[in-house]
Amino acid sequence: MKKLSLSIMLCILALSISSVKTKNPAVLITGGAGYIGSHTAYLMAQKGYEVILLDSLEHGQTFDHSWATCIKSDFADKKILKQIFETYDVEAVMHFAGFIEVGESVKNPIRFYENNVVKTIKLLKIMIAHDVKKFIFSSSCAVYGNPQWLPLTEDHPKNPISPYGKNKLMVEMALQDFDKAYGLHYVALRYFNAAGAMPELGLGENHNPETHLIPIVLRAIIEKRPFYIFGTDYDTKDGSCIRDFIHVRDLAQAHWLALEYLNKGNCSECFNLGTGSGFSVKEVCNAVEKVCNHKLNILQKDRREGDPPMLIANPKKAKEVLGWQAQYSDLEHILKTAYEFTIQYRPSFIPPIKYDNYLKLCKKP
Ligand code: UFG
Repeated sequence: MKKLSLSIMLCILALSISSVKTKNPAVLITGGAGYIGSHTAYLMAQKGYEVILLDSLEHGQTFDHSWATCIKSDFADKKILKQIFETYDVEAVMHFAGFIEVGESVKNPIRFYENNVVKTIKLLKIMIAHDVKKFIFSSSCAVYGNPQWLPLTEDHPKNPISPYGKNKLMVEMALQDFDKAYGLHYVALRYFNAAGAMPELGLGENHNPETHLIPIVLRAIIEKRPFYIFGTDYDTKDGSCIRDFIHVRDLAQAHWLALEYLNKGNCSECFNLGTGSGFSVKEVCNAVEKVCNHKLNILQKDRREGDPPMLIANPKKAKEVLGWQAQYSDLEHILKTAYEFTIQYRPSFIPPIKYDNYLKLCKKP
């Protein structure tokens, strides 16, 4: 009798594990509670993936969405990763987790190299050990450094000028070697200036500290504070820097397409993600004033160290190979969605969400 009940129990256990394993393919999203990660996680859930979201929640994110399994953890935690890979049928890892503040990377490079490079290598090592061999990497236009030509094509020389940009390039280089040696297939997506939000889902940009142009301008309007332009003497049409702003929803779409691309057996690649045209900081300020129907108090400051005057993507390769094209990146739409998110979800308005520091092995009801 005892023997029988034990075998029934084992059978139930095996069934429950295999039922997790045979569900929809899973995608592990590190940094999935962050800005670009959360938008991508949502899209992947929409596309029918089992979304496992791994995030340290170090940066004040408040992420609690029923369409994902949320795990609060460091992205290189061997024990947690092992548990995830043994429990879910993880088809691919999308790696968003990483420090992003360029200025901070100059002041504290050890922290950046440790987190963005060393820990990413650890993650890749554990993936390979569990035979998870598809990787979508959040890279950056920072790998190029100061442009020698514009718009930037993927074959532009790589001369990153900040530890942050070097971190991204180092991981890209490691990925090339891991592909050859271990058959790890990857797509490195080099983002230009991510912007915009999906306020209807409570998703948007909320870094702490915030250094990015659009959320800072919007907060300056809402909180009636001055906005400081860093440098008005650049060799550009109006003296301020020019950037290629890409809606975060378009970035999310590119991640899904990148995985589709790998799933078709295509080889590892890197792609620029931008629109192909740019706006100056002053133009962004003017557009924000129009969208918000408020006047900004604009003050001028010295140039910010390490800011290239112009960054504009050539997105042709992503279009031709992935079939990707920006659809939501019209500046007005970017600003409207970002504004709506900012007024609804300003940090002071966000109630803290409590996470248990344990692995949730099943989806929330
Ligand atoms: N800016 C201001 N005032 C502010 C904030 C920004 O004038 O308060 C200016 C910056 O000096 C820059 C432009 O707005 O000229 C855009 O700055 P962001 O910080 O929004 O974005 P970056 O272009 O510096 O950053 C982007 C990506 C990074 C990437 C970097 C490479 O977000 O991931 O390009 O240079 F590393």
